[in-house]
Amino acid sequence: MNEFKKHIIVTGGAGFIGSHVVRLFVNKYPDYQIINVDKLTYAGNLANLRDVEEKPNYTFVKADICDFETMLQLMRQYNVDGVIHLAAESHVDRSIKDPFTFAKTNVMGTLSLLQAAKQYWESLPEKYDGKRFYHISTDEVYGALELTHSQGITPPFSTKASSGSHHEAYGETFFVESTKYDPHSPYSASKASSDHFVRAYHDTYGMPTIVTNCSNNYGPYQFPEKLIPLFINNIRHRKPLPVYGKGENVRDWLFVEDHARAIDIIYHNGKVAETYNIGGFNEWKNIDIIKVIIKTVDRLLGNPEGYSDELITFVTDRAGHDLRYAIDSRKLQKELGWEPSLQFEEGIEKTVLWYLDNQEWMDNITSGEYEKYYESMYSNR
Ligand code: NAD
Ligand code: TYD
Repeated sequence: MNEFKKHIIVTGGAGFIGSHVVRLFVNKYPDYQIINVDKLTYAGNLANLRDVEEKPNYTFVKADICDFETMLQLMRQYNVDGVIHLAAESHVDRSIKDPFTFAKTNVMGTLSLLQAAKQYWESLPEKYDGKRFYHISTDEVYGALELTHSQGITPPFSTKASSGSHHEAYGETFFVESTKYDPHSPYSASKASSDHFVRAYHDTYGMPTIVTNCSNNYGPYQFPEKLIPLFINNIRHRKPLPVYGKGENVRDWLFVEDHARAIDIIYHNGKVAETYNIGGFNEWKNIDIIKVIIKTVDRLLGNPEGYSDELITFVTDRAGHDLRYAIDSRKLQKELGWEPSLQFEEGIEKTVLWYLDNQEWMDNITSGEYEKYYESMYSNR
């Protein structure tokens, strides 16, 4: 254990974003021990990490972040000097049906992890020196922005992610780090609460914390209840594509590996007690992104153009559906030099190809329990 330079717990490493973070750190830093702590809920899948599971600097521990005693014991056992905290319940629709689980995991789980880190680090002679608690959050805590331009306007800034054919913004305001929190869904309310606890541990106890708020991620290994993998899979199986409301809501999309790269940079170079927004100025109306997905899947499957358009099915809107998210990430770009590496069109092509090439990964998830859940989501809409 002691041959490693750093010992970092990544929580939620078997989930979508966490698995990309674990992969990046395990491969890039052979002198760091990466301890993936994950409860393996429905969203956790060790198949996401097959390519790194044998690496000598990788360890998996199945545990619940709400279990304070176990978290404290892990801190001591692995001599932990860093925590990158991604474990959470993450799906808005589930939070509408079952808010308690979200409060438990996202709020109480984060608190239990903070308290375990505090107790362990304060017991050491060097205390918080060289330690870091990095909490991964979402832009959804800021609430919804106004959607003032339904046709889209040229955004004031651009990045590689937004440099393709579609380069539009749907309003003049963006989320910045000082935007007031205004969460609307039980998911975003629980994430907001956890963010406040993290900042409180810095302000009250001096814990070296960092919080980042990222826009919607897409890419390989995303659980297929989220828009992009769900729709790719449904197109492949010629199932309806349930578009909430009129499909007018706007989301700001970032390729997951670009988020993982940002996490790496911020973990190492971010300033303690700071917040960084992560996003690529890449806003899309749901209906437009859905058309891009349909077109890409049809082309890659050899279907004629327009073949799957008929699968689009407008359904009852999500309750409290936030109209528009759009991140201003200039602070991160200026202070730490991060930029998205991929144009959105490249990212979507890579993503669709990955899901089509990894049908077995998808089938393993979409059979059994998931199928029952998915049907229940739509039976009472
Ligand atoms: P995910 O649902 O794919 O994965 C969550 C992981 O956490 C799973 O592996 C699950 O098993 C684990 N987990 C859940 N409850 C746990 C518990 N009590 N103890 C231990 N492990 C537990 O989520 P994701 O999309 O990868 O999101 C990861 C983090 O990033 C979350 O904190 C989320 O709020 C945040 N985030 C996500 C997005 C996005 O677009 N997906 C955007 C911004 C921020
Ligand atoms: P989602 O992937 O659930 O992410 P989030 O709610 O965190 O933004 O949804 C992205 C957008 O797509 C959101 O505006 C809701 C919409 N959506 C649909 O229209 N149909 C669907 O089946 C899903 C899952 C989402």
